[in-house]
Amino acid sequence: MPCTVIRRSFDRRRFVRGAASASFALIAAPALVRYAAAQAWKADPFSLGVASGTPRADGFVLWTRLAPEPLSSNPETPGGMSGGDVGIRYEIATDDAMKSIVRRGSATAEQAFGYSVHLDVGGLEPNRPYWYRFLSGEASSAVGRAMTLPAPGSAVDQLRFGYVSCSNYEHGYFAAYRHLADEDPQFVIFLGDYIYEYVDEVHPTVRRHSDGVEAATLPTYRNRYAQYRLDPDLQHLHAQAPSILTWDDHEVQNDYADKYSEFFADPEQFLLRRAAAYQAFYEHMPVRPILSRPNGPLMRVYDRFVLGDLLEISVIDGRQYRSREACYRPPDKGGGHLETNAGCPERRDPGRTMIGFDQEAWLYSGLARSKAKWNVIAQDVLMAQLTEKLDGVDAFWTDDWDGYPANRSRLLQHIHDAKVSNPVVVSGDIHSFLANDLKLDFDDQASPIVATEFVGTSISSYGPPYDLIAKALPDNPHIHFFESRRRGYVAIDLKPARMQVRMRTVSDAHDPKATISTLKTYVVESGRPGVVEA
Ligand SMILES: [Fe+2]
Repeated sequence: MPCTVIRRSFDRRRFVRGAASASFALIAAPALVRYAAAQAWKADPFSLGVASGTPRADGFVLWTRLAPEPLSSNPETPGGMSGGDVGIRYEIATDDAMKSIVRRGSATAEQAFGYSVHLDVGGLEPNRPYWYRFLSGEASSAVGRAMTLPAPGSAVDQLRFGYVSCSNYEHGYFAAYRHLADEDPQFVIFLGDYIYEYVDEVHPTVRRHSDGVEAATLPTYRNRYAQYRLDPDLQHLHAQAPSILTWDDHEVQNDYADKYSEFFADPEQFLLRRAAAYQAFYEHMPVRPILSRPNGPLMRVYDRFVLGDLLEISVIDGRQYRSREACYRPPDKGGGHLETNAGCPERRDPGRTMIGFDQEAWLYSGLARSKAKWNVIAQDVLMAQLTEKLDGVDAFWTDDWDGYPANRSRLLQHIHDAKVSNPVVVSGDIHSFLANDLKLDFDDQASPIVATEFVGTSISSYGPPYDLIAKALPDNPHIHFFESRRRGYVAIDLKPARMQVRMRTVSDAHDPKATISTLKTYVVESGRPGVVEA
C-alpha cells in the first residue's frame, strides 16, 4: 500500500525518478561454474547471511548471496563479485552443531542473479528442524535452521507462527524481528514492504539508506536489499525461521498497480523498473526457482502451503495483477486517494480486480478444495471496509481492498458459499494493528460475518495519524480494534479448536535494544468467524 504516512502527509516528498534500466538482458547463458579457492576471499562472501523458505513437507529452499563487498557501488561488480557462476558447497544436518550431516553437495551462485543461491532441497523428513550452512574455500556461512512442514493430512495439535510487514530501515531498528525469532516460530510470513525504495526527506530518521537515492534500477534495488540484509536482527530472524513471502508496493514503488506508476510514468518504461525490482526481490529471497524465477517483469509469488490437517495458507500477490487504482487521473499524484461513491463510480466496477482473474480462480479453487481445519489468506493490504469522510461524505481509500470492492465481495461470497473452514485473513501495509470482522456486506448490520482479519503493525515504519482513523471507527463497527502508534508484529498460536492472536509491540523502534510486550490478545473460535477478545 501506500505507506499510510505517505498516504496522508507525504505527497510532497521529493523523489528521484530513477532511469529504469533494462534488466531483462541479465538473464544470460550460464558460464562454466568456478569454484572459489581458499585464498580467493579477501572478505566474507556470506556477509548477507543465510535464509530458508518456501517450506514443504519434504524440503525447503536454502538461500545465500555471495557478496564480499555487499554495498558495491559498481553495477558491473554486484556485491564485489565478477565473472561467471560460482560453485559453492552446502551441508544439511539434523543437529545445530552440524555433526550429523544428512546431505552435502554443491550449489551454484548465479551471475545472472547477483550471485545468489537458491538451493531447492527435497527428500527430507517431514515436520522437523534441519540445520544448514554454505561453504566456499575457507569461508563458512552462519549456521541456519530450516524446518520441514508436517505431511499433508497428518494430525497436528498446535503450531506457532508470526507475520510481519513494513520495515523501513530509516524509520527504526529491527528489534521486532529479533523478538519474533526468539519466540521460536515454525515459520514467518512476510507480507510486504520488506524494503523501502525511497529516501525519506520528511520524517525523523535513525539511519539512512546508504546510497541516498530512490531505488529504481537493478543495482540500486540490489543494494537496498543488501543493506537491509546486513541488519543483524533481520539476519538472525532469517537464520532462525523459514520464510513464507509475498510483497507489497515498496518493493517496487509506492502504490504502484501492475504497470501503472504512482507518478504516471509510461507503462512500458515502468515495467522495466518493475522487472529490475522483481529480479532484486528474487535474488534476495528464499523462493523456489521453479515457481518464482523472474521472466522480465513477470514473477510469480502467490503460492499455497499445507501444514498437516491443521492449516492451509494461501499467499496472495496483491500488486502484480491488479487493475490500476480507480480514478487514476494524470497529471496529479496517482496511487491511493479517498473517493466518494458519487465522485468515482469506477471504484465499484465489477470488471476491476485486486489480484487478477487468474489468481482469483486459483484462490477460489484452492479454498474450496482445502481440507484443513484453518485456512489463512496471507496478503498485503487491509481487507475490511474502512469508511472515512471526504468533505463530510463517506469516502474510501482506493489502494487497499476498498478500491476493489467487487473483488472483495467475490472472495467473501466464495468463502461463504464454499463453506471454507475457519477462514482468517492476515494483512499488513497500514502500519497499524486492526482486528476486524469480515462481513458479506459491510453496509448491512445484519449481514453474516464470514471471516476474520488481523492486520499487523509495521516493524518500524511510522503509522498514520491515530486520531484521523480513530474518529472514523464509529462508522465501522466491524473494526474491533485499531492502533497505529505502536510498532511490532503478530504472533499466532493455532490449535484445532482455536486461534490465539497476540499483537506484540516493541518499547521503542528507535532503540535497537527495545523490549517486547503484548498489546492485545484475541482469539477466533473454530466454527465461529469473528473477533473475540481474550
Ligand atoms: Fe509500508
